[in-house]
Amino acid sequence: MSDKLDLLNSKKAEALKGGGDKRIESQHAKGKLTARERIDLLLDEGTFEEIGMLTTHRSTNFGLDKQQFLGDGVVTGYGKVHGRPIYVFSQDFTVFGGSLAEVHAKKICRIMDLSLQNGIPFIGLNDSGGARIQEGVVSLGGYADIFYRNTLASGVVPQISAIMGPCAGGAVYSPALTDFIYMVQDSSFMFVTGPNVVKTVTHEEVTSEELGGASTHSQKSGVAHFSVENDLRCINDLKKLLSYLPQNCEEESPKYPYTPGDERREELNSIIPDNPNQPYDIKDVINSLVDKDSFYEVHESYAENIVCGFAFLGGKSIGVVANQPAFLAGVLDSNSSNKAGRFVRFCDSFNIPLLVLEDVPGFLPGTDQEWNGIINNGAKLLYAFCEATVPRVTVITRKAYGGAYDVMNSKHIGADMNFAWPTAEIAVMGAKGAAEIIFRNEIKEASDPEAKLAEKEAEYAELFANPYNAAKHGFVDEVIEPAETRKKLLRSFEMLKNKVAKLPKKKHGNIPL
Ligand code: HXC
Repeated sequence: MSDKLDLLNSKKAEALKGGGDKRIESQHAKGKLTARERIDLLLDEGTFEEIGMLTTHRSTNFGLDKQQFLGDGVVTGYGKVHGRPIYVFSQDFTVFGGSLAEVHAKKICRIMDLSLQNGIPFIGLNDSGGARIQEGVVSLGGYADIFYRNTLASGVVPQISAIMGPCAGGAVYSPALTDFIYMVQDSSFMFVTGPNVVKTVTHEEVTSEELGGASTHSQKSGVAHFSVENDLRCINDLKKLLSYLPQNCEEESPKYPYTPGDERREELNSIIPDNPNQPYDIKDVINSLVDKDSFYEVHESYAENIVCGFAFLGGKSIGVVANQPAFLAGVLDSNSSNKAGRFVRFCDSFNIPLLVLEDVPGFLPGTDQEWNGIINNGAKLLYAFCEATVPRVTVITRKAYGGAYDVMNSKHIGADMNFAWPTAEIAVMGAKGAAEIIFRNEIKEASDPEAKLAEKEAEYAELFANPYNAAKHGFVDEVIEPAETRKKLLRSFEMLKNKVAKLPKKKHGNIPL
């Protein structure tokens, strides 16, 4: 028996070495951790159970049969994060550059199947040169098998991708199908075609970093939800994200113990500037309303005119969507609509109640927006709110103008409780624009048209730039003192916790993609 145990142990030791010491050194020299080091950091100590440690590829192409590495370039299995189970794969760049081939893909598919069957989140740590060139079309099939499973699991279990090295070609579509993407700065990139192909086809000269690095995707394209300094930060942030999420779509969002205290927030009574055109930072409002230090922002550097993120309110996980008056006056445009629409749908898929803070002057005008489909893109956010059945509460802090009023979780599209601060202005449009239209003739004929315009603007503002007209119609449930908002939210979400809302029977809706 002992020689058999020795054989087992030597095989395990060989698998643990991946592509060998030299390649591990080279991985470390690039500032990257190995696949196994990443898993060790991710999981609670001693909880990792590996699946498929002794697998090898079956290819004989190009002398591949003489290069065998146990595990075939990906470590797969399950373990616990903060005591809750997850499934994980971690690509091993030290083995064939973490490239994906038949067996490698099968291992990933196996844990994806288990994740879906058992209702447990699925985490992918990506670090791969793409399709294993020697295995050819088999690799393409392997990718498609993964894409298919990503799609089936979408909305059933949370799926999170971390890009911790290269991720190129069709390989990018698996992360893109998952719910959240982390990218590590300076060591990761994602693109469909790399700089060389770009140069050949479009004659553009661009570096990998510019084309698809973490800053590009977290600021320009919005493909990445989080850009992080290094591997360690990436894993720690990913663990933090998991703490806000349920295990699957049947579970409620997490709730942690909470001791009630003084819920008044005096600072909110003076947060709105006297001048309605002066900005303020909506994140100050969010941080004041939610449990201390609990706000975790998603897409922090992309479409900053809308703020999305998770937080705890009275210990319960919620999703926050808020217009940001400090960026582009909080206007809604294509990017912010896409960003918030996807976030709302994620929260709704996983039973995470939604808090909406509204201060929106309207949709952004202009040819750029119209030609790039603000109609469709704005409709995505509208659709996402309309179909959301989780508890939904809105607080209008200041502006709620035009179509954007309707879109931002208004009563009419299914919000459960709508509050307004006394500073709210709920109207079809701003007072100046309205006065110019409805009093056009009167202004034109006046001896002092400017003075007339100012007079009519003030008249319109007096009548409509307030929350009371909307309250009169029941579009706003209550006009509240800002300092009381947290208390109102705690009570509202408590009151709504057993909400049951069903959509009409259908196969699936047809969101304007
Ligand atoms: C097989 C690969 C590989 C691949 C890297 N390696 N990519 N082996 N298939 N796709 C191997 C290298 O031969 C090398 O082996 C080791 O991994 C490390 O690679 P290096 O080049 O030394 O590393 P580095 O300088 O860091 O460069 C990493 C890289 C580069 C940028 C990823 O290797 C690269 O460009 N690889 C090719 C990428 C590619 O074209 N992939 C196919 C894309 S198409 P040794 O033995 O020396 O350690 C695709 C289609 C998918 O993926 C479609 C799905 C629908």
